[in-house]
Amino acid sequence: MKETILTGIKPTGKLTLGNYLGVLKRLPEMMERGNNYFFIADLHALTLPIEPEELRQNSIDIAAFYLAAGLDPNKCNIFLQSSVSEHAELNAIMQNYMYMGELSRMTQFKDISAKINITKDAKDAHIGLGIFAYPVLMACDIVLYDSDIVPVGDDQTQHVELCRDLVNRFNHRYGDILKMPKAEKRKAGARIMSLSDPTKKMSKSDPKGDIFLKDDPNVIRKKIMSAVTDSGSEIKYDVDNKPGVSNLLSIYAATKNVSIEDAENHFQGYRYGDFKKEIADAVVEDISALQARYRHIIESKSYEQVLKQGAIEAKKTASNTLKRVKQAVGLLNLD
Ligand code: TYM
Repeated sequence: MKETILTGIKPTGKLTLGNYLGVLKRLPEMMERGNNYFFIADLHALTLPIEPEELRQNSIDIAAFYLAAGLDPNKCNIFLQSSVSEHAELNAIMQNYMYMGELSRMTQFKDISAKINITKDAKDAHIGLGIFAYPVLMACDIVLYDSDIVPVGDDQTQHVELCRDLVNRFNHRYGDILKMPKAEKRKAGARIMSLSDPTKKMSKSDPKGDIFLKDDPNVIRKKIMSAVTDSGSEIKYDVDNKPGVSNLLSIYAATKNVSIEDAENHFQGYRYGDFKKEIADAVVEDISALQARYRHIIESKSYEQVLKQGAIEAKKTASNTLKRVKQAVGLLNLD
């Protein structure tokens, strides 16, 4: 039987090379082996303040980039989380089975709430319930489709682990109701770091040193050529002592679909300047082609029909799971 593969991208900020190399670029290959649910986590985007028009545009962008990356809507369901109301309904049930203590230990929550406290005036320093309860909704996204495999970058694996805890807890109480999922990380590319500070993750909300998928190819080249490298001249994968070089090696390996060892071997004896130039060439070639396909999809608006059809298909599976859960917990079914 085919595995079920599910992942989501949140439409906050601009998509980065980290999103692409960590997840997006692997999906077309994964698509061939599974039943696939690839969605736009628009409800999750509301967990931090965002302008309505920006949210709408970002959502369209993600749909277009899913398709531009090579996803075939005949082989996967691409949809908006908010179009399948079962996500929110299951969330209302599952929030009772995740605990405040475990939610407050999540790295993403701790990082974001610390940032809000530091950067906002006291009057604006509010932390919404949604960002705290974020992993509950994310767990619902996953279990609704009986997902086996959840391809994510490094930063989301903690949330998938918490989802696994929830599945254990729920099934222990009610029987074998929810399917146990597993995160799947890419060896090269699971944690792409900022080019200006390779000890920090490349993220959608931090424009310095980050490559955005819609950046002009010349800008991408410039950012890579001015990436921070490390002292010494050796090209070696050593995250602790050579974070800058290691990050560039990961970027190259994930872009060319080779192992880190192969990338390391390839660049033996290179000087930093030539090393960066070759990586810039590889990334620019890949992203320019992606951008051309993206522009075509945006112009044709082909994503609209894809999202509509994707939601119809997704709903079929999601509504079955929701029924099973409602029955298990004792909600009366009058059908
Ligand atoms: P999001 O939108 O922050 O990121 C989308 C995916 O990109 C990965 N990623 C990275 N990978 C490598 N290097 C980086 N610098 C980098 N930055 C981001 C993320 O790990 C993620 O896989 N909570 C999720 C969205 C979500 C979801 C889900 C994912 C909602 N429900 C259910 C999987 C399953 C998020 O905010 O991802």
